[in-house]
Amino acid sequence: MLTTPAPVTAPTVLARKGAPPPLVMVTAYDAPSARIVDAAGADMILVGDSVAMVVLGYDDTLQVTTDDMAHHVAAVARARPRALVVGDLPWLSYHVSRDDTVRNAAALVRAGAGAVKLEGGRKRLDAIRAILDAEIPVMGHIGLTPQSIHAIGGFKVQGKRLDAARALVDDAVALAEAGCFALVLECVPDGVARMITDSTPVPTIGIGAGRHVDGQVLVFHDLLGLGNRRTPKFVRQYASLEAAAIDAVARFAEDVREGRFPSSDETYHMTDQMADALGLHEAPPSVETSTSG
Ligand code: KIV
Repeated sequence: MLTTPAPVTAPTVLARKGAPPPLVMVTAYDAPSARIVDAAGADMILVGDSVAMVVLGYDDTLQVTTDDMAHHVAAVARARPRALVVGDLPWLSYHVSRDDTVRNAAALVRAGAGAVKLEGGRKRLDAIRAILDAEIPVMGHIGLTPQSIHAIGGFKVQGKRLDAARALVDDAVALAEAGCFALVLECVPDGVARMITDSTPVPTIGIGAGRHVDGQVLVFHDLLGLGNRRTPKFVRQYASLEAAAIDAVARFAEDVREGRFPSSDETYHMTDQMADALGLHEAPPSVETSTSG
């Protein structure tokens, strides 16, 4: 008898700390991408605020709201994935009062997320505690935190200096102690990722953080070669779907222009009887061509 695998939850992710195989997380923003990521066997689907850049065409992630994120989380959840759906809390959704922070996190849970993610270190402990108090699992995110792009001066590798590396380790330990079930480490040197992974009892999920982590995450569009953005060096592109899609649409356009689409098989036909009754089997009237002015 076939058994369906149990859905992934925050506690099952936490229990995977240090145990091979590494955790796999991939972003998705709608039902088709969620189905693909889930069918490929990812453990977690991150409905990232990267949706702003890879789907909505913005230059940074600061442009999306909690309502936008809830809309995308709901679309992903409708695919009913086995993978844990992690909803990304957008900028200014948890930098607000405790009540509003919890309300925003709850909006993502009501949309279908099984956990939320937020960016920042010890500064965000109050927000993390408030959300955990409402029984919502929280994934932390430190290192390069794109919502702080103006404060940190661009998309840059973090933790390159000794004091910054130590601060990241302290942030990670504090977030784990507060109760985060996992931590994303974005764009940090591999040695820093290793120190964090070795000093925290929760899984670390790296993106541009090297191999010494408990799992890896990539953005769906980067991994599949969809979209024209320049990708950072840590992205490995496993397909070139943008090129394949352009080729497919160009072939459709050519078939239409050359009269090859649709074929008879791609057409709904009426019965001969009805065609006769409507006079559609008669020879088409010849077109009058006039040579006189
Ligand atoms: O929004 C996102 O896709 C993310 C990942 C890069 C971790 O936060």
